[in-house]
Amino acid sequence: MVAIAEPLCYREGVPKVVASANIALVKYWGKRETELNLPAAGSLSLTLDALRTETEVELSSGSEDTLELDGTAVSGKALSRTREFLDEIRRRSGRHEHARVVSRNHFPSAAGLASSASGFAALAVAAARAFGLEATEDELSELARLGSGSAARSIHGGFVRMHAGTRADGKDAIARPFLGSMLELSAAIAVVKAGEKEVSSRDGMELTQETSPYHQSWIELVDRDLLAAEHALTEGDFERLAEVTEGSCLAMHGNAMSARPGIIYFAPVTLWAIDRVRRLRASGTPVMFTVDAGPHVVAFTLREHLPRVAEVLSEHRDIDRVLTSGPGFGARVVTSEAG
Ligand code: PMV
Repeated sequence: MVAIAEPLCYREGVPKVVASANIALVKYWGKRETELNLPAAGSLSLTLDALRTETEVELSSGSEDTLELDGTAVSGKALSRTREFLDEIRRRSGRHEHARVVSRNHFPSAAGLASSASGFAALAVAAARAFGLEATEDELSELARLGSGSAARSIHGGFVRMHAGTRADGKDAIARPFLGSMLELSAAIAVVKAGEKEVSSRDGMELTQETSPYHQSWIELVDRDLLAAEHALTEGDFERLAEVTEGSCLAMHGNAMSARPGIIYFAPVTLWAIDRVRRLRASGTPVMFTVDAGPHVVAFTLREHLPRVAEVLSEHRDIDRVLTSGPGFGARVVTSEAG
């Protein structure tokens, strides 16, 4: 379990919201509309306890919104995305104040480890609350999606199913918990020694859908994979789930690699880790891999096998560390107004 750093120095009276990132078993890669971040297909993920973001939003009398991430004032793209998000909250709440956002990730951010998922889920809940916007879970999921597609899933804990929806306003492009799984998965996350990723998922998706000759087949595959994965979860069929999860990951990357110019998120050690996961499974350990828009490898397994899987994955010098995690909760307020 990743060590949770010392708590933020929270300001009295400002509620703290915690959200956990999620990792998709059936991947999201492609949009039906970019302005509202509407996905072209659904997806299925597991929220992970260890990948947490804590966020506070406080209304301020200042003339602009500010963002502090991991103790440092943020400017540039991350700040503009946050401001655009807050503009939407202001529009919906009918209030005009600016806000001070303070956030901390308890895992390496911006390295392809889904920090935008936990970040925007936490921001959606914290900002809605600060601006007095009453929102249902569906509405919070829809709001979080505006920040990042995968953030819609981090509103919920455990297994989560994102729906592509069909409405132009995106009100039905939301995530809901997927209940009834007979499998409880844990994850070992092999964090590769690498800096920030070169192509953001946003840019990568856009280039893929514009230039990959396989994009349409990929979108059609997602629905079949979703059905198969849901069936495997409700039947408790680990082998079948592994086949679908690894297939969805490799098809997503194959599609991205087929863009012009091809997008390669894998590092050499990514293939090494994939090979180790497959060897472990062949020798009887229930484990499967997936990889997001970065070089890191996530191995899903059953809790009792987590130490062995983590040990095997840490054996390469290009692996910085292996984080381990069980399923996480949905986004929630963890301190009261009283502090
Ligand atoms: O939410 P975004 O825009 O960061 O996209 C996430 C894309 C993947 O992580 C690669 C796949 C997924 O479904 O989470």
